Amino acid sequence: MFPETVLHSRRLLLRAFDAGDITDTLASCSDSLTQRWLPLPRPYTLDDATAWCTTTAHAMRDSGDGIQFAVTDADSKRLVGQVGLKKTDWRALVSEVGYWVSPWARGRGIAVEATRTLAHWLLTDQRFQRMELRAAAENAASQEVAIKAGFHREGTLRNAGFVHGARVDLVLFSLLPGDLGSSTDPTEHR
Ligand SMILES: CC(C)(COP(=O)(O)OP(=O)(O)OC[C@H]1O[C@@H](n2cnc3c(N)ncnc32)[C@H](O)[C@@H]1OP(=O)(O)O)[C@@H](O)C(=O)NCCC(=O)NCCS
Repeated sequence: MFPETVLHSRRLLLRAFDAGDITDTLASCSDSLTQRWLPLPRPYTLDDATAWCTTTAHAMRDSGDGIQFAVTDADSKRLVGQVGLKKTDWRALVSEVGYWVSPWARGRGIAVEATRTLAHWLLTDQRFQRMELRAAAENAASQEVAIKAGFHREGTLRNAGFVHGARVDLVLFSLLPGDLGSSTDPTEHR
């Protein structure tokens, strides 16, 4: 399993979810854009947010599936999103990133900065060899995040995903250690 970890970038602090995140997680995961693209419970309830913050996110690390981070503003400490790894293949050293950004924090490069920060940790500290990202073919914002974070577009996985019962094509992106560049600053691309 991944070690419990706190990560920093220029504007962000990435840490484990806790009970103090429940209200902001409820607001973020009930939001229509988050609901549009992620297969979350609908409606997303207080019980769902409580389970995620106190149990589910932690269980994903304990099981070896991945690790989930609450993305917070380093100054205000407020939750601004989620970034995490899932479907980790420990033999191949491949893991898949996923994220959402809270409605009050969108359009400021938070998703790119959080993804780059996690990628640096995974591909350098953790010595993984590949980070994958899958975005629905119509989710233009998420594909823009992938490109701005330095991922390479590899192709379309036809009919590979589902969002609330509807089948969707997924676009597959990857990031390798050699794609990170020589900078040690995860936000150097901005
Ligand atoms: C996708 C998402 C995480 C992006 O978060 P964000 O922090 O606002 O993204 P960023 O600010 O880093 O923006 C990245 C780029 O995408 C662009 N973008 C945003 N919405 C866009 C859209 N609808 N179409 C095209 N580009 C878009 C932004 O303009 C930005 O480019 P810029 O820096 O040149 O302006 C956010 O919209 C979200 O939470 N969506 C719902 C959940 C989701 O889709 N998760 C991903 C599932 S694969």
